[in-house]
Amino acid sequence: MAKPVKITETVLRDAHQSLIATRMTTEEMLPIVPKMDEIGYRAVECWGGATFDAALRFLHEDPWERLRKFRAGFKKTKLQMLFRGQNILGYKPYPDDVVEYFVQKSVANGIDIIRIFDCLNDMRNLETAVKAAKKENGKCEAQVALCYTLGDAYTMDYWISKAKEIENLGADSICIKDMAGLLLPAKATELVTALKKNTKLPIELHTHYTSGVASMTYLKAIEAGVDIIDTAMSPFALGTSQPATEVMVEALKGTPYDTGLDINALCEIADYFRPIREKYLKNGLMNPKNLGVNIKTLQYQVPGGMLSNLTNQLKKMNAEDKFYQVLEEVPRVRKDMGEPPLVTPSSQIVGTQAVMNVLTGERYKVVPAESKDIFLGKYGATPRPFNKEIQKKCIGNETPITCRPADLLEPGLPKFEKEVAPYKKQDEDVLTYALFPKVAVDFFKYRDAQETGVDVKKADTDNKAYPV
Ligand code: CO
Repeated sequence: MAKPVKITETVLRDAHQSLIATRMTTEEMLPIVPKMDEIGYRAVECWGGATFDAALRFLHEDPWERLRKFRAGFKKTKLQMLFRGQNILGYKPYPDDVVEYFVQKSVANGIDIIRIFDCLNDMRNLETAVKAAKKENGKCEAQVALCYTLGDAYTMDYWISKAKEIENLGADSICIKDMAGLLLPAKATELVTALKKNTKLPIELHTHYTSGVASMTYLKAIEAGVDIIDTAMSPFALGTSQPATEVMVEALKGTPYDTGLDINALCEIADYFRPIREKYLKNGLMNPKNLGVNIKTLQYQVPGGMLSNLTNQLKKMNAEDKFYQVLEEVPRVRKDMGEPPLVTPSSQIVGTQAVMNVLTGERYKVVPAESKDIFLGKYGATPRPFNKEIQKKCIGNETPITCRPADLLEPGLPKFEKEVAPYKKQDEDVLTYALFPKVAVDFFKYRDAQETGVDVKKADTDNKAYPV
């Protein structure tokens, strides 16, 4: 019996986030949108994740404007975003009113599917976002993503019970989100079979090619009944990105899983992205190192993005020779912190702590605020208990919390509205400000300067002086 596999295209979000540090511009994306709209993708992932921060910070673009342009261009295709649960698109938990308003505005500006995850797989951190998405009158699909990782906590029973929790939460579908490419083909068979048996929700699989097994994993998952896979157009596929769309489409041709997508139309889209790939290879943003197989990701269970972050961190501190020591410290810190999955923001917290532990020569001599907050339960419940001794060393006499962290946060919007008032040009500005206050204000000033014809690149921002 035919069971066509559906494809979510990631070239406009995860693919360039993984390969060129999220630097693809709206201008580079828009010309190909009409062609992509004809393909018949299940969805195009094009917003959220790191794109929001990167657009503001590095490209001086309004991410909301980008979304509206996508919506205007994609007339038939569903637009998907990645949402970090209570952390929204930022790096710490936000109050419920901010989460709800963000979801509402994402849908209002054109998002159809919100993929929501929590870096600890703590379902309490997803409740508000899922409920907010469901409130949008059936216009929006709430997909919950389970962060896939390995460790003592992550038994098949763990995944099954999480999937049931997701179903009870009222989500519309489940994504297995394998940030590091750790899901091996045979394990995919086991996992997808178990989830299919225990939930009625459609299952999507998202992985990265980092460790080299991704397309084999997809094939096994498809044979086990996975409904949707995430792929990227070939010029932005493989390496730390996803398997290539065209390759999966061809591989499934003539099988019961045939996607039915037109390979010639896909090839035209690939032709469009190829020179963009060349441009980023030439300017160094696309590093050939990230295009090959990185077997260390399997060895150390560290996502590709985290590996390159660690390299950069150590480079800045002139401590590149400590790379392997840090890599070996990562799993120890992860254990101390209750064995969380490594994904934003837990990956940054574990990574930074590992760097500190190695560089200072004493474990937990320096403890960043975020590490302390993890041990205080402020990010939620970790899959395993903390290392009690280390926890004590980091939090001293403070009492950890065990409730849903956002229950302790006061509503944030009134304060943010007040602070953003001098710069506000659209409702969404308050959300941009809530997530990244400093970067947002810099962007708002840049936007004003553009409107008044002032060249902000020549501006002396430190002295707040702008040449007119
Ligand atoms: Co990803």
